[in-house]
Amino acid sequence: MDKLYIFDTTLRDGEQSPGASLTSSEKLEIAFQLADLGVDIIEAGFPITSPDDFAAVRRIAMEVKGPVITGLARCRPEDIDAAWEALKDGENVRIHTFIATSDIHLTHKLHMTREQAFEQAVDMVLRAKRYTSDVEFSPEDATRSDWNYLYQVLEGVIDAGATTINIPDTVGFTTPIELGRLISSIREHVPNVHKAVISVHCHNDLGMAVSNSLAAVLAGARQVECTINGIGERAGNAALEEIVMATNTRPEIYQVETGIDTKQIYKTSRLVSSLTGILVQPNKAVVGSNAFAHEAGIHQDGVLKDRSTYEIMDARDVGLSSTLVLGKLSGRHALRQRFEEMGYNLSDEEVNRAFVRFKEIADKKKEITTKDLEAILADEITTVPEAYQVARLQVSSGFPAIPTATVSLRLPSGEERIEVATGAGPVDASYQAIDKIIGLPVRLAEYSVRSVTGGIDALGEVSVRIESGGRNFHGRGADPDIIVASAKAYINALNKAAAASVESGDRADVGVAGPAGI
Ligand code: KIV
Ligand code: ZN
Repeated sequence: MDKLYIFDTTLRDGEQSPGASLTSSEKLEIAFQLADLGVDIIEAGFPITSPDDFAAVRRIAMEVKGPVITGLARCRPEDIDAAWEALKDGENVRIHTFIATSDIHLTHKLHMTREQAFEQAVDMVLRAKRYTSDVEFSPEDATRSDWNYLYQVLEGVIDAGATTINIPDTVGFTTPIELGRLISSIREHVPNVHKAVISVHCHNDLGMAVSNSLAAVLAGARQVECTINGIGERAGNAALEEIVMATNTRPEIYQVETGIDTKQIYKTSRLVSSLTGILVQPNKAVVGSNAFAHEAGIHQDGVLKDRSTYEIMDARDVGLSSTLVLGKLSGRHALRQRFEEMGYNLSDEEVNRAFVRFKEIADKKKEITTKDLEAILADEITTVPEAYQVARLQVSSGFPAIPTATVSLRLPSGEERIEVATGAGPVDASYQAIDKIIGLPVRLAEYSVRSVTGGIDALGEVSVRIESGGRNFHGRGADPDIIVASAKAYINALNKAAAASVESGDRADVGVAGPAGI
């Protein structure tokens, strides 16, 4: 079996998903989890694009051990230098540089000739090589480029020292058969290709990112670039979990193995979804909530008799381990054990916090499932300092009635402050009351609610996105009462916005007393 290198770009291409934006602590948290998952390379960001991205790449390069850490750079001297500045204190780093090679991009975007792009690609690989031996080159829009020109560029950059050549299907245009042929032709026509690893990077515009990537693997690609949950520009990138489980489930077809600890897949998926605010569709392969659910009686009957009748993968292999259900009589020890089985090693303080929430929920809900526990964790164990907390909340609404909320928040000083507001509905009224207390200028950009599990007593999980100071912040909250979950999600996002404005020294943004004074 050959090794298939898994290059994760959740923190770079994934973060380019519309609406996704992560703070640098959130990126670090995801990077640690990607290391636990066993990815080979983490693309941590695009350092030249913003001071935030630069700082995140630098922190990840310095703190996350195991995978190679890379940062993206256009084929420009200032980009290569910025990428190196961000990476240079890491142990194991790579510069990833790219320039478009399709005539469409050369003519309309870069206003360059093919010769100029060739020269720039070679020059910038040479420049990157002065910093590190590990250099990846991507001819952007490769699948719409002239193949003969592509061979020349690849030969030139490999001669200049590129150790990985990545073939991006930037606009999700190719097909499995075509991409397989392109990879085979590159192997045939680029004389020095044996000196580099061939990689692919597929987008999902026609829903074929994973199929295209796998066809490339069959043709000899040995690195695949992908993201958790398939998030990314437009329709997203190839989903890591699908590629890994495909190669694991059908080794006789793909003849490769990855270094991924598949039992970490579900946990990683949840973490990325909760921090980016991008929900996973229920029917998503491998990690969707229905991926292992059997509804039809015939199927249930078959699975009970023998799992292999309708299951090609074992849910436990992706980390959806135990079917053990906890209830209100379960103790702290059982809870800790269950978290450990789920892959979380919590501190005593974290177990205590989770236990308080667990008891509250267990009082209202008969059975607490793995999914409930994941929601509790995402809700309670947060990396953001909880400057503001919901202390009490009461709403009245109905028809005809004026939705009114009374909200009491615990402030950073420990003091409680109460406000009352009316709104279009109970959630709006609660948010207005919270705004009065915190006084941070924000706009609610997205709000969604879903139930974590089925049943009338299900835990409601609310996800919000707010905009503040030109940046996006996501918040999540879970509770059997969806108004409480909504308030928690809003406060979670406001705490992130408050922490970011303190981090950037913009303290004036962080209000303590609302406009109503107190
Ligand atoms: O889609 C693309 O072409 C990219 C490159 C920068 C690799 O993301
Ligand atoms: Zn891309």
